[in-house]
Amino acid sequence: MAAFLWLVYLVVGGLLLPGHSLSSLAEAAAVANNDGGSSQLGNFALQKILADSSEVFGDGYTRSGSSNKMKNINRAEWMKRIPDSTPLTQLNIPGTHDSATWNFTQATSDAILHNTDPANDVYPAAVYQCQRVSILAALNGGIRFFDLRYGFDPTGVRLVFWHAHALLSELATVQDVLFGVYAWLEEHKSEVVILSLKAEETGVTFPPGHATPESLLVTSLTTPAARQYILQRHDSLGQLGPARGKVILFRRFDTPTSLGGESKLPGLHLSPSTWPDNGKAFSLLYNPAKNLSAHIEDYYEPNDLPEGQKGNASVHIAAKLASVEANLQLAAANRNDDDVDRDGLFVTFTSAEHNANVPPILPVIMALGNGTDVTPLGGVNRRLVKEVLPKLQGKRLGVLVIDFWDEPADLDLVGTILGL
Ligand SMILES: *[C@@H]1O[C@H](CO)[C@@H](O)[C@H](O)[C@H]1NC(C)=O
Ligand SMILES: *[C@@H]1O[C@H](CO)[C@@H](O)[C@H](O)[C@H]1NC(C)=O
Ligand SMILES: *[C@@H]1O[C@H](CO)[C@@H](O)[C@H](O)[C@H]1NC(C)=O
Ligand SMILES: *[C@@H]1O[C@H](CO)[C@@H](O)[C@H](O)[C@H]1NC(C)=O
Repeated sequence: MAAFLWLVYLVVGGLLLPGHSLSSLAEAAAVANNDGGSSQLGNFALQKILADSSEVFGDGYTRSGSSNKMKNINRAEWMKRIPDSTPLTQLNIPGTHDSATWNFTQATSDAILHNTDPANDVYPAAVYQCQRVSILAALNGGIRFFDLRYGFDPTGVRLVFWHAHALLSELATVQDVLFGVYAWLEEHKSEVVILSLKAEETGVTFPPGHATPESLLVTSLTTPAARQYILQRHDSLGQLGPARGKVILFRRFDTPTSLGGESKLPGLHLSPSTWPDNGKAFSLLYNPAKNLSAHIEDYYEPNDLPEGQKGNASVHIAAKLASVEANLQLAAANRNDDDVDRDGLFVTFTSAEHNANVPPILPVIMALGNGTDVTPLGGVNRRLVKEVLPKLQGKRLGVLVIDFWDEPADLDLVGTILGL
């Protein structure tokens, strides 16, 4: 099996080597019918990789739960209408938080759990699930920022997806999912996809001397295919034009000197050592020479609430919403050409939880509320559309990183962010 996968990577990697007559997946697919031989094999190899990635990347419109009206809204090319000269920091970019959790239902957890060390508690699946729609369906629905959390699989050989101690798929590797994104970009050349990569505390450990997850990650991010599809620009985002058809890396990991150091990989480096836990508003400098910073809201667990109100879902939602609104107001305010923050990147996480509460305030309760008796105004998603975004119409918002992005089904959160 491993040998076969390696062969598959060699075949696809070989097709994408610069100078080879077949320089892209589209060309490979286009000639597959009349060129026989290696191009057909390349196409078959891609199909195999996409099948392997489907538990995380998705396949068609894949949703854990019933479909909603977003199924019929195609936003696969919303960037097409935006001028090439637009700085990427000026765009409103909908994103998903813990994007790989969309199929992590209780049934999935039960099916995978036997692989996880029993010493590592794995809580009910609802504690971990933050989405219901696959990455592919989210791409087609307009999502352009994906929060991906990686770690070794339990054998310590492959890089796969986790949310805390919960393994999300036994099959889909980070490498396979990257190919899914490249193949999608090949079909949607106007679009830019930001991939945030962060090491997860999986609870799986290996003896001293074992490779680090980052060594596999750096390899995956420097293959011939990666060099073609990842924007090779360091420490700034630049304009939309040159980034079309590309992935931009949002590196929430460090690349030690032994792996080539921070200059080895393109994109923005946001070191986990400088990223504060549960921060309401903080700035991380990603380009000291040009003084460019990311201005981030990541208050995922509202905790500075008055005694007596802790555990009240509606109070937690209101506290999160206030922190989200504050960062969006900053993004909206810093827009003038002469403003130092014009090139700053604003990133606002609208996702939150208080799973430790009894009863737990799950990610789904924060995003969507818990019924009109408990949360009469709804969760963060409804309140954003109804109360916050109308005040910011036409303004720069930056990146919004959302849980359950296509819900509630009677509203269009992504359309509202995009100003549609
Ligand atoms: C969801 O996960 C389960 C368990 O791994 C798997 O059998 C199923 O095929 C997955 N669903 C999709 C749509 O990938
Ligand atoms: C750097 O940018 C920050 C805003 O992100 C600003 O407050 C600061 O004054 C700038 N520093 C210099 C030296 O321009
Ligand atoms: C939760 O807080 C809201 C707003 O302060 C209040 O109206 C409601 O009664 C509280 N609910 C409970 C169960 O305490
Ligand atoms: C959410 O609603 C359920 C069912 O009504 C209730 O049992 C639970 O206590 C509520 N949880 C929170 C955090 O409000």
